[in-house]
Amino acid sequence: MIKRNSAIGVMDSGVGGLTTVKELQKLLPKENIIYFGDNKNVPYGNKTQEEIIALTRRMIEFLISEDVKVIAVACNTISTIIDMISKDYDVKIIKIIDPVVDNIKNTLKKDKVGLIATNFTVNSGYYDKMLGDIKVFGRGSSELAAIVDSGKIDKEQVKKIIKGHIDKIIEAGNVDTIILGCTHYPILMDLFQECYPNINFINPAFQQAEAIKNYLREEGLLKEEGDKYFKIYTSGSQDQYHSIMNMLKLQMPQEIIQYRE
Ligand code: DGL
Repeated sequence: MIKRNSAIGVMDSGVGGLTTVKELQKLLPKENIIYFGDNKNVPYGNKTQEEIIALTRRMIEFLISEDVKVIAVACNTISTIIDMISKDYDVKIIKIIDPVVDNIKNTLKKDKVGLIATNFTVNSGYYDKMLGDIKVFGRGSSELAAIVDSGKIDKEQVKKIIKGHIDKIIEAGNVDTIILGCTHYPILMDLFQECYPNINFINPAFQQAEAIKNYLREEGLLKEEGDKYFKIYTSGSQDQYHSIMNMLKLQMPQEIIQYRE
């Protein structure tokens, strides 16, 4: 029996899913949130499908054991493969890609868009397939997610990496809108915007939070009162969470707990 006071579960390979937590805290301020970041195994984007599936199952099963009422896959890489395994679980699972794709289809003025994401996400062709007639100019980064996840961000070095990728996307497609298709990247939104003030960078976390709100409302599962908690479990170290949470100006969790198998 699903309970409205149960938490929303949010999972990612690392700290990137905090971008979804930020939108959830704004949109659903009364909800409990349990976050799982698999920082020990980040980056997922350079792994094989089999590896990602095995790690994802472990996270889903952990969140189910915490009795969550819905799971937000706050990771684009996992969202490209989650349909292969979601039928094995009773819990409702909401991906990060599909809600933003719906929004882009309704709002994009041109028939092309840029995408910067992990190699896995770009190579999966998931965005291309979902966006249909909209042409996607995608570019994978093997290094950005791990740099963000370390919590040690050298702005000049990161700006160089960003320019290396975004210049190539613009050269190829002359796009004015680029999807930040890895949840770690909106943590760097200021740097993307500083380098390219005329590009519209899309953060998919907002539409994912809206999709979660709509689902909970439709199911009569919105938590409307009482105290709330925000707990983080990490398979890595707790330290990097503090710097990332400051960068994102997130409400601080009650606890950051070391996850051990
Ligand atoms: N944050 C993840 C995503 O949205 C992946 C980062 C990684 O582990 O490579 O794709």
